[in-house]
Amino acid sequence: MNNLNTNGAYDIVSKLLHWTIAVLLIGLIALGWYMMSIEDQPDSGWYFKMHKSFGLIAATLILFRLIWRLFHTPAPLPSSIPLWQAKAARGLHFLLYIFMILMPLTGFLGASFSEHGVNFFSLKLPTWIAENKDISEQFFEAHGIIAWILVTLISLHALAAFKHFFINKDGVFQRMWF
Ligand code: HEM
Ligand code: HEM
Repeated sequence: MNNLNTNGAYDIVSKLLHWTIAVLLIGLIALGWYMMSIEDQPDSGWYFKMHKSFGLIAATLILFRLIWRLFHTPAPLPSSIPLWQAKAARGLHFLLYIFMILMPLTGFLGASFSEHGVNFFSLKLPTWIAENKDISEQFFEAHGIIAWILVTLISLHALAAFKHFFINKDGVFQRMWF
């Protein structure tokens, strides 16, 4: 199946998922850093609970997006784009998908091994694994590093998108816009 409209735009589901997940990821990274700066304060628990809950929502949408993407191949980029740039875009998109998956996965595993466990808003999810502080900390260390990798990839990706919009004016940005 193909998600092509006649102008090469992404289908509406891909667009909605792209922008909803983008907002969630940026919000979760900001919230993650903020809560780390207040983690010793008594009422910081609420922020952690919110982070885990929205993190799980993001994970579900990312999973759905991945499945959707497998059945909806995007249109080729305009032929005006040099081959190396088209390849770079593909590589960057691939890496974005990899780190989009690793981000909530490491958070979920880190929290699962921690004493606090995982919650979805006020619902505490069942414990499925024995508490282990060392393993938990390793997953959270990875979680923190992956956040930086994701920030770098997103920045490169957004810069490229703006370049297409403001400089090349080749309609590539509009493929993902409404
Ligand atoms: C795509 C989704 C997610 C993003 C973008 C994200 C982002 C972040 C960031 C930037 C931090 C701060 C890391 C640091 O500075 O060391 C953080 C910490 C944390 N995240 Fe996530 N996160 C996501 C999903 C999750 C999920 C699904 C869970 C658990 C169910 C989770 C649990 C946590 C916890 C418990 C911390 C605190 C770690 C610590 O105490 O060292 N995160 N997250
Ligand atoms: C914040 C997190 C973001 C993530 C994780 C992300 C991820 C992705 C991914 C994986 C694709 C490829 C879709 C596919 O072919 O399967 C894509 C496409 C696209 N993204 Fe993002 N994106 C983000 C933010 C942004 C922002 C801020 C902009 C604009 C400034 C943007 C503009 C675009 C455009 C224009 C495309 C279509 C490129 C093309 O036609 O080949 N994205 N994005």
